[in-house]
Amino acid sequence: MPLIAIQTQPMEPDKLSTRQFELFREFIYRHSGIRVDLAKVTLVSNRIRRRLKACQQADFDAYYKFLNSAAGAGELEQFLDAVTTNETYFFRTPHHFDWFKGEFLDELVQRPQAGALSKKLRVWSAACSTGEEAYSIAICVQESSIKLHGWKTTIVGTDISEAVLRDARVATYKKRSLDEVSESRLRRQFDASADDATYTVRPALREMVEFRRHNLMEPLKLPPFDCIFIRNVLIYFDRASKQVVINNLVNALAPGGYLVVGPSEGIYDMLSPLVKRSTFAYQKS
Ligand SMILES: C[S@@+](CC[C@H](N)C(=O)[O-])C[C@H]1O[C@@H](n2cnc3c(N)ncnc32)[C@H](O)[C@@H]1O
Repeated sequence: MPLIAIQTQPMEPDKLSTRQFELFREFIYRHSGIRVDLAKVTLVSNRIRRRLKACQQADFDAYYKFLNSAAGAGELEQFLDAVTTNETYFFRTPHHFDWFKGEFLDELVQRPQAGALSKKLRVWSAACSTGEEAYSIAICVQESSIKLHGWKTTIVGTDISEAVLRDARVATYKKRSLDEVSESRLRRQFDASADDATYTVRPALREMVEFRRHNLMEPLKLPPFDCIFIRNVLIYFDRASKQVVINNLVNALAPGGYLVVGPSEGIYDMLSPLVKRSTFAYQKS
């Protein structure tokens, strides 16, 4: 009987086994506080598969070993970037920005000020992804220049992923990110590319925002903030991690400062150290 030569191809790993998924879930939890949903095994498998190819690892087990080895230390960030969701856009949940520009700034400027030196507004866009939230805040501040005359504003955007922060610093966006931006804002605050496909935030606005890497599970070692936006990130955290993040955020707020909470964070019942001022704005008394 003739022998048939079968050419063996390296097997493409398809989906994480239950054991492998559990290992990666624990790893993600340990490094970010994110509790990946058990139903997301296909999504996570697909995203990790891209990374293991990029790192030339044979299969999920080999990639896991690599990720945990000294040689794979630089891969942690790319890995977290691949498995987290970075979707964002300008003026997401527009009434948060209406509130910021209106009620919040009105109240802030009416507070008794000791002198010009204390006229400082500090805003933190926590888990800012590619920067749209931080620049939306900067647009609100710039459009309030009369109200904020004599004030020094600092806007800080932070994220666990250096990759999204790099994009945030470049500040060039596709139209899809700009659906909520009015025509007049688009003309005033952005430079369009020749083919109109992308828009870059103008330098004056870019200079208002400072981006830095930060894990929400750790305290941010910066002076206190008057307003912190925490939106569309804690939905992925379990309760214990949410509690750690909330403590860090409350500690980062100045007295009288506000926490702006996204609609799906799942933390409304955990904000007792703050006073509820509206469905999304919580104040440190
Ligand atoms: C969906 S985006 C939210 C962006 C923006 N806040 C918004 O509401 O549109 C979630 C971001 O959270 C970041 N992230 C996830 N875990 C984090 C952590 N432990 N510390 C800081 N950022 C984290 C991700 O990298 C991602 O960019």
